[in-house]
Amino acid sequence: MTDDRNTRRRLRSQDWFDNPDHADMTALYLERFMNYGITPEELRSGKPIIGIAQSGSDLNPCNRHHLELARRVRDGIRDAGGIPIEFPTHPLFENCKRPTAALDRNLAYLGLVEILYGYPLDGVVLTTGCDKTTPSSLMAASTVDIPAIVLSGGPMLDGWHDGDLVGSGTVIWRSRRKYAAGEITREEFLETALDSAPSVGHCNTMGTASTMNAMAEALGMSLTGCAAIPAAYRERGQMAYRTGRRAVELVLEDVKPSDILTREAFLNAIRVNSAIGGSTNAQPHLAAMAKHAGVELHPEDWQVHGYDIPLLANVQPAGAYLGERFHRAGGVPAVMWELLKAGKLCGDCPTVTGKTMAENLEGREASDREVIRPFDTPLKERAGFLVLKGNLFDFAIMKMSVVSEEFRARYLCEPEREGVFEGKAAVFDGSEDYHRNINNPELGIDENTILVIRGAGPRGWPGSAEVVNMQPPDALLKRGIMSLPTIGDGRQSGTADSPSILNASPESAAGGGLSWLRNGDVIRIDFNSGRCDALVDEAEIARRKTEGLPAVPPDATPWQMIYRQTVTQLSDGAVIEGASEFRKLAEKLPRH
Ligand code: FES
Ligand code: MG
Repeated sequence: MTDDRNTRRRLRSQDWFDNPDHADMTALYLERFMNYGITPEELRSGKPIIGIAQSGSDLNPCNRHHLELARRVRDGIRDAGGIPIEFPTHPLFENCKRPTAALDRNLAYLGLVEILYGYPLDGVVLTTGCDKTTPSSLMAASTVDIPAIVLSGGPMLDGWHDGDLVGSGTVIWRSRRKYAAGEITREEFLETALDSAPSVGHCNTMGTASTMNAMAEALGMSLTGCAAIPAAYRERGQMAYRTGRRAVELVLEDVKPSDILTREAFLNAIRVNSAIGGSTNAQPHLAAMAKHAGVELHPEDWQVHGYDIPLLANVQPAGAYLGERFHRAGGVPAVMWELLKAGKLCGDCPTVTGKTMAENLEGREASDREVIRPFDTPLKERAGFLVLKGNLFDFAIMKMSVVSEEFRARYLCEPEREGVFEGKAAVFDGSEDYHRNINNPELGIDENTILVIRGAGPRGWPGSAEVVNMQPPDALLKRGIMSLPTIGDGRQSGTADSPSILNASPESAAGGGLSWLRNGDVIRIDFNSGRCDALVDEAEIARRKTEGLPAVPPDATPWQMIYRQTVTQLSDGAVIEGASEFRKLAEKLPRH
């Protein structure tokens, strides 16, 4: 590259640091930056200024490793002729933020939009890891449409307990059932959970964190192979360095998110999500990212483009292994290579590498067929999300990669089978009600019950909570009945292995069908036609609707109030209503 500022496009940061019309403002902008080693000459030289959106902090331990990785990113930016400027993003720690980190995804998005728009940045490295850090940062980069590249922090090393692999989250859901059934002690429960987190990094299962980083890679927004490298591996630091270098080149080449995030890129991501057995949270997050990218993505796209894709990655919760082994087997590129060879992927999509997706993937053959299966001999056929609708909701999904063979054999999409499931509803208003009453014998919960939770959506919770994977009452667990069908207007953890019907939209708090459902109503689910209805007649439904909506907790903070007033439904990505009308902000400079 050349340092001659006259030979190339004027960068937006030069309006701050090299503005002959506003010499006084230029002086003001420059003075503080000089104190930590960036000279005025350098800032005025027209070198690209690259932000490092730092998501790691003590409050976000899954991403904390980025505090060290940023040094390597800085080296890469410097070596490619750019100037690094690191700044914090709003923390999004999945396990700890109450009432749910989902409430803060849009807040982190808003914060990052203001930073990318209002400061002298020409490009940005988005450091990602924990669940919502990936979608929030990509949503913001799209709104501003500033050259951007994703750097995943990588998953933790594989966890082991007593010779068994124990994966983040998944081991909690499994141990919880064993604990309730009296098979393990409380101490064993805690020890197993601790052993599942052996190092720095995000969750090592194919939960929402690994999924969303895989989605970023499938969309073409990170370097090839970035998502799966474990946080503690040497290659992770090298990936950080290369990502920093590439961020500078993206600015010089003027490659923006809008050049990469096309509808085809999103459809690729949906297909990859099926093949990796990815998180159900990918649905609202991809919807949100598409919305801010100005891309039409329909809720039915999950069924039309994702349902028939087989499960290729043998990773928990849908499979057996964890992130380290997945990476060694070839990671996301090896899965995508299988899909590409089978004609299931758009190979022409441009990516941040400067090459097409097909060029990136060429020859990325899996090295371990136990972990990444060939397309023709998958772990499961038809492993995408089933999309359901009916009088209880207009949209809900069910993750087929975690549905048992027995369940499939009984109900699924085989013409000669009936494909219909009927059960009695046991309805809970939020998780407090569930915990209080699940063991209440008066509810009469048996093996023909469908557990329903409402008040768990974006407006109701608020934020939409991961509570739909409810376990049966202790009495059933002790009889060996480890799961019942569940339905809810909330979400479930990406690490859960339950075949729940979730993300039901519209939610109860927005007047969706779950709001008028009563204990004992019969629900019919027809998996072949994708219908889910309560067998309640129209007149009775109309009467119940006059009784008003089930109560939800009041706003506890100013942001909860603003969030509830602005949020859309999960089918639509739970974005801020109207925010997607703001596009390509970087094309216009903010006023002085
Ligand atoms: Fe942060 Fe799983 S809790 S990645
Ligand atoms: Mg989660």
